[in-house]
Amino acid sequence: MKANRGGGEHGQHEALKLSSFFFMPERPRDYLVLFTRFSVLTCLIVSVSLVLRATFLSPSARDYSTTYGLKLTAVPQKAIALPPSASVGPTNISHIFFSIAGAAETWIDRSQYISLWWRNTTRGFVWLDEPVKIPENHSDVRFSIPTRVSDPGWTRFKFSSSRAAVRIARIIWDSYRLNLPNVRWFVMGDDDTVFFTENLVKVLSKYDHEQMWYIGGNSESVEQDVMHAYDMAFGGGGFALSRPLAARLAAAMDDCLQRYFYFYGSDQRIASCISEIGVPFTEERGFHQLDIRGDPYGFLAAHPLAPLVSLHHLVYLDPMFPNKNPIESLQTLMKPYTLDPNRILQQINCHDRKRQWSISISWGYTIQIYTYFLTATELTTPLQTFKTWRSSSDGPFVFNTRPLKPDPCERPVTYFMDGAEDVRDSGTKTWYSIGDKNYGHCGKIEHTRLTKVKRILVTSMKTDPEYWNKAPRRQCCEVMEGKVGKRKEKEMLLRIRKCRSLEKI
Ligand SMILES: *[C@@H]1O[C@H](CO)[C@@H](O)[C@H](O)[C@H]1NC(C)=O
Ligand SMILES: *[C@@H]1O[C@H](CO)[C@@H](O)[C@H](O)[C@H]1NC(C)=O
Ligand SMILES: *[C@@H]1O[C@H](CO)[C@@H](O)[C@H](O)[C@H]1NC(C)=O
Repeated sequence: MKANRGGGEHGQHEALKLSSFFFMPERPRDYLVLFTRFSVLTCLIVSVSLVLRATFLSPSARDYSTTYGLKLTAVPQKAIALPPSASVGPTNISHIFFSIAGAAETWIDRSQYISLWWRNTTRGFVWLDEPVKIPENHSDVRFSIPTRVSDPGWTRFKFSSSRAAVRIARIIWDSYRLNLPNVRWFVMGDDDTVFFTENLVKVLSKYDHEQMWYIGGNSESVEQDVMHAYDMAFGGGGFALSRPLAARLAAAMDDCLQRYFYFYGSDQRIASCISEIGVPFTEERGFHQLDIRGDPYGFLAAHPLAPLVSLHHLVYLDPMFPNKNPIESLQTLMKPYTLDPNRILQQINCHDRKRQWSISISWGYTIQIYTYFLTATELTTPLQTFKTWRSSSDGPFVFNTRPLKPDPCERPVTYFMDGAEDVRDSGTKTWYSIGDKNYGHCGKIEHTRLTKVKRILVTSMKTDPEYWNKAPRRQCCEVMEGKVGKRKEKEMLLRIRKCRSLEKI
């Protein structure tokens, strides 16, 4: 959450401290305790509700909401007086509450990233430092995530480097105290974080939301993990807090903000506060802070075998697709993602035995072909097309990389997805066209033969909905004999399928 600086002055006023009263019961008998507390505190709560109501319905709040076309019903005053309803059944998108860190200054521009993934089933707010007036004709923002202004209480805390980090760390408190019903997970992210919500739901549903969980990803650049922390979810990649943990964190937040004023980021303040509660960081490999510089290609073409949950920092990186800007690139990626969310960016490798070519598919994104033999390990090791985030060095990263060889003949020929569609009986087709990565000219016959292949068609069955609930195993692919004559030279047909039990790549 470092990208957000901004930060308007607000008048200081003492914020209401609700969180410590409204803890989330972890055991049935806690409900009784809670009920008793509620009975005793009824009068107080009623008055607190009134204060809240007055706060939310003050003229400035009303103007602000009208400006955005928000419904004030999103803040349920009544719910505060009731114990949370027991949540049963599988986790779906409506159980996730997104708390997005934004800043008024950059919101209109950054809202493009959220519009890519925001749907009418997603719940949450982007928290800004001050209200923004959104132009009438800006449909993207108007129908996207609703905005809220952070409670101004944050301005009383000390800070050493980034003032906005205090406010952003505190949006978990802002979000929790709304006490919205049926929230199992609070998911934090930046205004330039792109979430793949189907996969986020899939990942979170593996965990018991009634227990305390802190789930996310750390930085790709070792220098960042060393400087900040390894045992911490980097905010831009997004991270999830189960409701019981969010309750504890919201209650502890203000004290933590006093104690950890010397940290740079909001995410590190949150991590330190969670570590006081005694809850460890759980890493999921699909959250991507993308603390890298330059071209993310090599990394995204060799995604770890885990569902893609988020992408971040794309505004600072070379666009994913040649001849497209970052937003157009993401729009392109969303098409195959909606067809088969489990499979997006999943890497599948095979060899063309006749021609001795090595083929690597990053589904829905790109294909790399090499005119020589590479092992499965080499193919799954990202080609280092990028540098580290802070010092633009050649590493180290938290994963292995292989260098982009200086000889153009040893570099891959690359193809980029330009179409995706459903086919009958739960299948998909994706097309990839040759795309220039400026990897230089190689005059060797085999390379020339490869560059004659202009288009690749990939067919696959949609992944089993249980795919990520089983022990992970990469799928296999094979080169199909398709077209004859001239077209055969120009087109290639690949089929993705489950590997046979004894099959090796
Ligand atoms: C999510 O699950 C709840 C039950 O816990 C159900 O009432 C709701 O309709 C579901 N929402 C979606 C979007 O599937
Ligand atoms: C939500 O969006 C879907 C399509 O994106 C639409 O079919 C549905 O009617 C919408 N629901 C509401 C409540 O607007
Ligand atoms: C909205 O209108 C302003 C001028 O009135 C124009 O400059 C801007 O490009 C328009 N934006 C969109 C998204 O149409």
